[in-house]
Amino acid sequence: MAIAVKIAVNIALMGLIRKRIDSFLSTVKKILNKTMTFKKEIQQGIPNNLPVSIDYDSSINHAPKRKDILSLAEKKLALQNALRYFDAKHHAILLPEFKNELETYGRIYMYRFRPKYKMYARPINEYPGKCEQAKAIMLMIQNNLDHTVAQHPQELITYGGNGAVFQNWAQYLLTMQYLSEMTEKQTLVMYSGHPQGLFPSHNDAPRVVVTNGMMIPNYSKQDDLEKFNALGVTQYGQMTAGSYMYIGPQGIVHGTTITVLNGFRKINKSPFGGLFVTSGLGGMSGAQPKAGNIAGCVTVCAEINKKATETRHSQDWVDEVYSDILKLTNRVKTAVKNKETVSIAYDGNIVDVWETFDKEDLHIDLGSDQTSLHNPWAGGYYPVGLSYEESNEMMANKPEAFKEEVKKTLRRHAAAINRHTAKGTYFFDYGNAFLLEASRAGADVLDTVNPLKEFRYSSYVQDIMGPMCFDYGFGPFRWVCASGKPEDLLKTDQIACEVLEEMIKTSPPEIQQQMHDNIQWIKGAQENNLVVGSQARILYADAEGRMKIAAAFNKAIADGIIGYIILGRDHHDVSGTDSPYRETSNIYDGSQFTADMAIQNVIGDSFRGATWVSIHNGGGVGWGEVINGGFGMVLDGTSSAQRRLESMLYWDVNNGISRRSWARNNEAIFAIKRAMDKNPNLKVTLPNFVDDSLFK
Ligand SMILES: NC(=O)c1ccc[n+]([C@@H]2O[C@H](COP(=O)([O-])OP(=O)(O)OC[C@H]3O[C@@H](n4cnc5c(N)ncnc54)[C@H](O)[C@@H]3O)[C@@H](O)[C@H]2O)c1
Repeated sequence: MAIAVKIAVNIALMGLIRKRIDSFLSTVKKILNKTMTFKKEIQQGIPNNLPVSIDYDSSINHAPKRKDILSLAEKKLALQNALRYFDAKHHAILLPEFKNELETYGRIYMYRFRPKYKMYARPINEYPGKCEQAKAIMLMIQNNLDHTVAQHPQELITYGGNGAVFQNWAQYLLTMQYLSEMTEKQTLVMYSGHPQGLFPSHNDAPRVVVTNGMMIPNYSKQDDLEKFNALGVTQYGQMTAGSYMYIGPQGIVHGTTITVLNGFRKINKSPFGGLFVTSGLGGMSGAQPKAGNIAGCVTVCAEINKKATETRHSQDWVDEVYSDILKLTNRVKTAVKNKETVSIAYDGNIVDVWETFDKEDLHIDLGSDQTSLHNPWAGGYYPVGLSYEESNEMMANKPEAFKEEVKKTLRRHAAAINRHTAKGTYFFDYGNAFLLEASRAGADVLDTVNPLKEFRYSSYVQDIMGPMCFDYGFGPFRWVCASGKPEDLLKTDQIACEVLEEMIKTSPPEIQQQMHDNIQWIKGAQENNLVVGSQARILYADAEGRMKIAAAFNKAIADGIIGYIILGRDHHDVSGTDSPYRETSNIYDGSQFTADMAIQNVIGDSFRGATWVSIHNGGGVGWGEVINGGFGMVLDGTSSAQRRLESMLYWDVNNGISRRSWARNNEAIFAIKRAMDKNPNLKVTLPNFVDDSLFK
């Protein structure tokens, strides 16, 4: 009897085990099928048969309707341009569809071709391909279009209102297909989102060369962008959008934290109990409340677009939301009184905040603005007194009237700030062209006292980032763990921290504060829960720091401790960007209106070992106002990667320091002399100073 029971139990158990195994195998099969499907979809590029057209998804954030700027003949040209991606047999169906998109949205996005698979940075081994470098680029492209990362994902816009990865979905599909086919003997050439094709090259060449918005200089006005973008022949790559290097708002949280911390240092006040007022909860601006929390102050951030506010609130990037201005005022008074560390969003227009706080005599310590004024007429800045929807309507249908409303608001905005600064507020321009556009609108922001200064307020680069970071070579170095594993990110944080802690022991006093702030940052990075999208980290480091951290990663990869690492940086850096009102606004020898540094930089990076390089017109402060470039570099643990990182990172920082030192910036002269002392192969032309008394 006992034996019979035993047998029966064993049979039942075996059945259960078999069932479990079957269910496990079917799950594995499903996963494999899914992966196969994804790989196949990538490899097929633009499908031969038209996919079923998809409904416009109104649950997510969309780009506003763009200006209707093309003549009838130009509209025909735009449609011909769009249709050249497709076999002629599909033209009769696609023509009316694309025409409708052009009329409804002002651009042809080719919504029908949006992939059905989920858009996010997959672990590198899930991508099809013949070389790891190309797979890494695919991972980065998908991250830039991830719905949790991108501002208008279905219009292929990553951030900044118009920072595009591609102009349309056909370009995306073709590019991914090329990447899945390419070998290490080819380079993919990207013309403003359009994949021109694969060209024969060599192992050490960049796998991808990206140009965005490069124009004949006379065709670089705001309306030229509207026109040539609508024609489908150029795009606004912003900075890390069109160069596949965006890592969500984390990238900017760090820079913003440094700015807020140093802003409070500048006015000799502790952030605790201090009030910071600003605006924008978009791509980059969304980092401000989090940075304020890390610094320890009370942050008030106004945002006119409810969806943007909801996104940042749901991601815990801002603590509280108020729609009633008086309730907001009372809450802020309490928070300041109790020295709380809290970030508060105002669901409305920033001008209302400045004006109400003035009437209520609420003292603001630090003030700034991060509306997208680099793009004032097409959704970057919203007029006061109109709802978000009313503004969008007016922008599309009455662009001239909209322009007037924007200018009126800018004058009111600046006047309210002036009243606060008269009472002791320290206001800085956040590189969003606020002072530039306000002055163009006739606001009272010009400096009438100092002939060398254009505006009555400085920019954050002039006062903080330039002299304290860029001139010493400190800038936004970043990395992404290609495995997609959080544990790899943790290990890289620890490695980077160890490198910096070793370096600070012998760092000169001039850069101790920087080193210290960055060690603090990396120690708190995990706890601050900064990852949105790919497993990425940002850290400000100088040339030596970047090289040492990268070398330590490369070794850890070789030792099997971590998977591949993708290095990069924001374009907003020491050498990458020429922008007279932002990155190079603390250059005062006249060369701030030249772009030699950014162009030299991308050329130099490309032959020193970058995996991909990019150079853009427009980004941050606007089309025609800036030239900026960046790079990506895959570390795979090999000696070749070691050689590349040493050569390229060294140039990528010291190029800019040499230019800043030639402009007579003392901090840069210090840094370049130090670099020359360490490397006999570096020999830079140094400036001589002229005694001012000779001019009397
Ligand atoms: N964070 C940084 O370190 C940094 C550095 C340099 C420049 N910038 C500049 O800051 C600007 C913002 O960048 P972003 O990526 O966040 O752009 P974004 O377009 O994603 O966000 C700007 C936000 O401002 C909101 N807005 C516009 N007008 C408003 C108003 N009157 N009141 C309240 N909200 C309003 C918009 O709805 C939008 O969500 C850009 O011009 C960028 O170049 C930021």
